Amino acid sequence: DWTMAEFRDAKIAEIRAQVGSGRVICGLSGGVDSAVAAVLIHEAIGEQLTCVFVDHGLMRASEADQVVSLFRNHYNIPLVHVNAETLFLSGLAGVTDPEAKRKFIGKTFIDVFEAEAKKVGGAEFLAQGTLYPDVIESVSFTGGPSVTIKSHHNVGGLPARMNMKLVEPLRELFKDEVRALGRELGLPDIFVGRHPFPGPGLAIRIPGEVTKERCDILRKADAVYLEEIRNAGLYDAIWQAFAVLLPVRSVGVMGDGRTYDNVLALRAVTSTDGMTAEAFSFPGDFLPRVATRIINEVRGINRVTYDYTSKPPGTIEWE
Ligand code: XMP
Repeated sequence: DWTMAEFRDAKIAEIRAQVGSGRVICGLSGGVDSAVAAVLIHEAIGEQLTCVFVDHGLMRASEADQVVSLFRNHYNIPLVHVNAETLFLSGLAGVTDPEAKRKFIGKTFIDVFEAEAKKVGGAEFLAQGTLYPDVIESVSFTGGPSVTIKSHHNVGGLPARMNMKLVEPLRELFKDEVRALGRELGLPDIFVGRHPFPGPGLAIRIPGEVTKERCDILRKADAVYLEEIRNAGLYDAIWQAFAVLLPVRSVGVMGDGRTYDNVLALRAVTSTDGMTAEAFSFPGDFLPRVATRIINEVRGINRVTYDYTSKPPGTIEWE
């Protein structure tokens, strides 16, 4: 796509002009946006860039490994991988309020990132994969300018505190444009086509208290759901699909015994930019098959439901 090639070249020139011979640190979230920003900046300034991946332990199955191997093996871009699972999970113990979770994760993310950035030393620029919808949705949403619907963890905070200049090459782009740019930069299709994943990760897909055990249950169920979606050839028709582990237990029967286990909600939506969304309509036999597989294969879940809510009035994530 020649327009994306032009955009890429223009941005590369802009980044070089902004950064000069300075050092840049880029936080990777595991998602497409920060990865595309990092690869673009690396094309522009090479070794002047260091990437930091703060792994909060709230990623989906194998997600962290994919990011690390993409950067280290595929692109040979230096990457600091910080395993901070214990720090995040211990701080989340007892926290049930959605905004309290988001704020704790955002703040702790900044603390860990800042400490790592200091070790890199001498960087005056901070790169972020902020997109256009991140910019507007954090400021206001349908509720009017003074209402915060959700505190997005990747906007604000860092720049003021770290006294660094921002490099945000994707600030004018929507998701589909970021994907096109990613392809232009040679990122593998499987990575570029990934569904969005929120910064606070599984913590906002576990209403109520987040524990390691609940994260593990959710990771297993989510992996089964996504595997079935890929096998059915539906992955690219869906904007985002994920499972939510509810803080509700229900009674069931398995073999000749009674069970009293967790309820899981499945969510899949179509959208063009995440600002509005519609529940995805699966072919008739798909959801019953996934429900059966999850209940048979994932210990701790004995009931599966499907979420039909549009955005608005719902949001895509549950918290
Ligand atoms: P909601 O739930 O607000 O989500 O309808 C809209 C889109 O944003 C993603 N999302 C986030 N992304 N940091 C992110 O980077 C966040 O804190 C965050 N919260 C929600 C969500 O997955 C959906 O794609």
